[in-house]
Amino acid sequence: MLATAEEVAEAAAAEIAEALRGGATTLVLAGGTTPKRCYELLAGLDVEWGRVAVLFGDERCVPPDHPESNYRMAKETLLDRVAPATVYRMPGELGPDEGADLYAEVVANASPLDFVVLGVGEDGHVASLFPGHPALHASGLTAGIHDSPKPPPERVTLTMEALQDAGRVLILATGAGKAEAVALARRGESPSGMIAGARWLIDRAAAGQ
Ligand code: 6PG
Repeated sequence: MLATAEEVAEAAAAEIAEALRGGATTLVLAGGTTPKRCYELLAGLDVEWGRVAVLFGDERCVPPDHPESNYRMAKETLLDRVAPATVYRMPGELGPDEGADLYAEVVANASPLDFVVLGVGEDGHVASLFPGHPALHASGLTAGIHDSPKPPPERVTLTMEALQDAGRVLILATGAGKAEAVALARRGESPSGMIAGARWLIDRAAAGQ
């Protein structure tokens, strides 16, 4: 547990950079808001981005320049400032089913996924895998979501299978709003708790203190 969200962002950026310097070549980025500061700091660290392929854990079914796009968020905070060899954008704008079908091929060809960054929702969801949702048990590498409880409703996501097969998984949780999600995960009672071996970086507020 770290004291503040800034410290979580710093530690996460340093861990990702260290993994990339250590030979990790496929980096899966999370969406949402938690990772933004981490990505901003990561952009300033010493990494040979020419060795790195960037993928996404999930994407909303909106255009890539839409304010809700995870790709747009990663582009503005990181990808416009570094030059990965390849960025495999998740084509959410094609819709959940076509987007998932196309991206499954991408993940299969890019695997193994060396390093996956995830945020966690207040309900314990990771990527777009929500508690009690059938997609939690989907086979294959990606799934299309038509009824996300977190807007927007349509998304493309990696499956739990894909996340569990990854080399390293780093879950970031900051703020009091995530305290319940952290507690749920500790009890193994949420999607984020289903990823054995995931490493968590949380601040004091998310630890419930
Ligand atoms: C998404 C994200 C989602 C996010 C969590 C936490 O597309 O919404 O991938 O899984 O990581 O909902 O979101 P915040 O970081 O904004 O709290």
